[in-house]
Amino acid sequence: MSKITVVGAGNVGATCADVMAARELASELVLLDIKEGFAEGKTLDMMQTATLRDFDTRITGVTNNYEATANSDVVVITSGIPRKPGMSREELIGTNAGIVKSAINNILKYSPNAVIVVISNPMDAMTYLALKVSKLPKQRVIGMGGILDNSRFKCYLSQVLNVPVTDIDGTVIGGHGDTTMIPLVRFATYKGIPVTSLLSKEVCDKVVADTMVGGATLTKLLGTSAWYAPGAAGATLVESIIRDQKKIFPCCVALEGEYGQKDICMGVPVVIGKNGWEKIVDYKLNNEEQTAFNKSADAVRNMNNVLTEIKVI
Ligand code: LAC
Repeated sequence: MSKITVVGAGNVGATCADVMAARELASELVLLDIKEGFAEGKTLDMMQTATLRDFDTRITGVTNNYEATANSDVVVITSGIPRKPGMSREELIGTNAGIVKSAINNILKYSPNAVIVVISNPMDAMTYLALKVSKLPKQRVIGMGGILDNSRFKCYLSQVLNVPVTDIDGTVIGGHGDTTMIPLVRFATYKGIPVTSLLSKEVCDKVVADTMVGGATLTKLLGTSAWYAPGAAGATLVESIIRDQKKIFPCCVALEGEYGQKDICMGVPVVIGKNGWEKIVDYKLNNEEQTAFNKSADAVRNMNNVLTEIKVI
C-alpha cells in the first residue's frame, strides 16, 4: 500500500492532505510542519472526520520529524510563506528557496525513491530548484500550477457559458505567474465545441485575464493565498501518480528542447503515471501561442537566475 507525505501543514498542505485522505490515495499519510504541534493538531482533527466521511487512510502529524516520512511513494512540498495581498508569487523567492531546499534534502534522506510534487511558490523556480538540488531523474520532479490554473480557467468558462464545469475542457500552460500563464483559448471546448465559437472575443479575453489573476483575486479577498483549489489540484495530481492513471495535466516539468525551451521547468501538458511524468504532449502551438510561451520562459528564467544569485543552487 502507498505512503504519501505532505511537507507544510499550512492551508494548502492541510487541504491537500485532507482531500487525499478522503480519496483514500494512500494507506498512510504523513503531514509534517516546523511549527510544534501544528501538523499533529490538524491531522487529529482530520482523523476525527474519518468515521463521518468514511475513509480508512491513517493520517499522522509530525513536527520536523523526517524519519516518520520514510519510504514515501510521493512527497508533496507546500512549505514556505504564502503571498499577502498585492504581493506577486515571485516576491517569495528569497524566503522560500531556502525552506524548499532544506525540505528536499531532508526528504531524500528517507525517501530516495519518491516522486516529488512541488507546490511552494514561486512554483516554477521552486520546481527547478528541487530538480537541481535533488539530482533526481527529471520524471520524478513535478510542479503543480497548471492543474490549478486550468481549474480556474474552466470555472470561469463555465460561468460565462452557464454550463456545468465538468462539461468544459481546457488547458493552461507556461509559468504559474499572474503575467506568465497562458490559458489556451484555442483548445478550450464545451463538449467538443470550441468555446471561441460560442463566446465573443471580448468575453474570451476577460476569461483569460480573470484566470491569469485568479490567485491574486483570492489573495486580495482572503488576505492570504487560496487553499481549496490549490490543495485539491495537488491531490488530483498525486492521484494520477498513485493510481497510475496516465491522465494528461498541465504540469511544470524540465524541458529539454520541447516547446522550444531547455534548462527550465515550465508548465506543459504531460502524461502523469506511477513513475511521475511520463511524456510531454505536443499541442503544436501557433506563432502567437509560441511567442507567449517564450515570453513566459524569459520571466521564469529570470527567477531561476535569482536562485543562482542567492547561491541556493
Ligand atoms: C494560487 C497559489 C497557491 O495560485 O499559487 O492560489
